[in-house]
Amino acid sequence: MKLTLTAIKADVGSIGGHIRPSDELLAAVERTVTEGGKGLIIDHTLNYTGDDVAILLTHDRGIDDEDVHRLTWDAFLAGTKVAKEQGLYGAGQDILKDAFSGNTRGLGPAVAEMEFDERPNEPFLMFTADKTEPGAYNLPLFLAFADPMYNAGLILSPAGGAGYTFTVMDVDHADGDRVVELNTPEDTYDLAALLRDNGRFVVDSIRSRHDGDIAVSSCTTRLRNIAGKYVGKDDPIMLVRTQKNFPATGEILAPFEICHYVSGFMRGSHIGPMMPVKARSSVSFFDGPPVVSCLAFSVRNGKLAGPVDVFDHPYWDWVRDKASAKAHAIREQGFSGPAMLGIHDLEYVGINHRLNALDERFTVRHEKP
Ligand code: 13P
Ligand code: 13P
Ligand code: MG
Ligand code: MG
Repeated sequence: MKLTLTAIKADVGSIGGHIRPSDELLAAVERTVTEGGKGLIIDHTLNYTGDDVAILLTHDRGIDDEDVHRLTWDAFLAGTKVAKEQGLYGAGQDILKDAFSGNTRGLGPAVAEMEFDERPNEPFLMFTADKTEPGAYNLPLFLAFADPMYNAGLILSPAGGAGYTFTVMDVDHADGDRVVELNTPEDTYDLAALLRDNGRFVVDSIRSRHDGDIAVSSCTTRLRNIAGKYVGKDDPIMLVRTQKNFPATGEILAPFEICHYVSGFMRGSHIGPMMPVKARSSVSFFDGPPVVSCLAFSVRNGKLAGPVDVFDHPYWDWVRDKASAKAHAIREQGFSGPAMLGIHDLEYVGINHRLNALDERFTVRHEKP
């Protein structure tokens, strides 16, 4: 069958700061999806990572389906209502528009969707991250799909050896989707030249060059482009199909052991290591560190088996300790240099007011003749 996976994620309020949603908020989202999804969707599951709620839906209506998107919008509105009743912090934070206009994309929530012919055995992963941005997936995707050091399948499997087509989006371009397609292995250096800039160029999707089948769909939302100001980080969601013509599940996970430095730590304004955490983890130290969780599923005729929490394994305890050490190392230098984002990427305008006021106090010293 032709199956659609729709994964949508939003922060509509959390307990005690930007930590995690309440059980009551989650119950309201769950109720809305269960009741409103009758006759519309095949299966669903709900999860949260830090303060962001993620809804995964399976159905046969294709991507950008208005009714499916409206269902998620209504679910987040129901969550927002509870968040307001409970006085949760940032109630309705990612609900940036007043009315639903046919598609949840561009309204605040992060969306990753894909449609494909379901394989007889169909494993896939859903990644959800908090206190970071969509470009945080650039490096792990590059390493998993283009580097044989991480993906042995590129040299062992004929389908993997055919390479992959990356669609990369320029997320600074607010007027329509500005994208480029690059093929690995021949475009690998061009791809690296774009993907090193996580704030501007983001992997939108990846296809197998063996048969054109879709492997990855990732969100490319920039909340600042929608709201015109900082309203929270663009905490991203991503779907990855695995095995056979795609990298194995473990090959996709391998690069996450790096805990690479990403932006989004504290006030969306600092750099921190991305820590792979167990599902339903909160954040803590310095509103972070940036976290990513990953659920594995199998699906048959749209019915989900799982999830399995792939970062809930002793190996990742060691990785988490490493991430803590990396977080500590960069936090030791406070606001200085690379610990904080550059002035153009800073999420708060307060510092611009301060610098503008200081500008007038500067004097230029000329050498005496
Ligand atoms: P597949 O043959 O299902 O792709 O599995 C490969 C494998 O052994 C992964 O480690
Ligand atoms: P969220 O984007 O996860 O709401 O975090 C906002 C923030 O500024 C935390 O310090
Ligand atoms: Mg928040
Ligand atoms: Mg968040």
